[in-house]
Amino acid sequence: MRWMVRLFLISALFIPAARAQEGAAPQKPPEAYAPGLGDFMTAYVQPHHIKLYLAGHAKNWALAEYEAGELRETFEDVTSYQGNWHDYPVAKLIKVNIDMPLGEVDQAIREQNAGGFDKAFEKLTFACDACHQAVNHPFLVIKVPTADAYPDQEFTPR
Ligand code: HEC
Repeated sequence: MRWMVRLFLISALFIPAARAQEGAAPQKPPEAYAPGLGDFMTAYVQPHHIKLYLAGHAKNWALAEYEAGELRETFEDVTSYQGNWHDYPVAKLIKVNIDMPLGEVDQAIREQNAGGFDKAFEKLTFACDACHQAVNHPFLVIKVPTADAYPDQEFTPR
C-alpha cells in the first residue's frame, strides 16, 4: 500500500507543473533529427562495407551489387548532409577517395571476377582510411572483415 501512497504523492507533485505548462507560450517544435558524420559511418557506411564484402567474397553477385549500391547511396547522403565537417571538405574527400575503388568493385561484380573483387575491396578499404587520415583521425583503422557479423542474414548464393 505504501507504494501507492508514494505514487500518488509523486504524481501530485507533477500536476501543478503540467498545468503551468498548459498556460505557457507554445513550445518550439523539436529540431529535425540530423545524424552526425560519426552516426552515418557507424550506422550505415560500416554495415554496408561489411555486407558488401561478405556477399562479394561468397560470389553472391546479386547481393554484392545491391550492397555496393547501398554503400554508394550512403556516401551520397553523407555528401548531401555532412558535405563539410569541422572545416574538412567531406564531399570532396569522398569523391577523391571512394569513387574510383568503388567503381572497381562494381566492375568486378559485373564481371563476376572473384579475385578482382577481393583486390578492389581491399583498395576500397584502404580508401576509407586514406580519408580517416586526411581528417586527422588516423586511429580509425578499417580492415577487410574477418568474420560474419550478421548471423540472421544469408550471404552465400542460393
Ligand atoms: C570523408 C572522408 C571519409 C571517408 C571516405 C570514410 N570515412 Fe569513416 N569517418 C570519417 C570521419 C570524419 C569520421 C569521424 C566522425 C565523427 O567523429 O563524428 C569517421 C568515422 C568512422 C567510423 C566510426 C568509428 C567509431 O568507432 O565510432 C567508422 C566505423 C568509419 N568511419 C568507417 C568507414 C568506412 C568503412 C569507410 C569506407 C567504406 C569510411 N569510413 C570512409 C571520414 C570518412
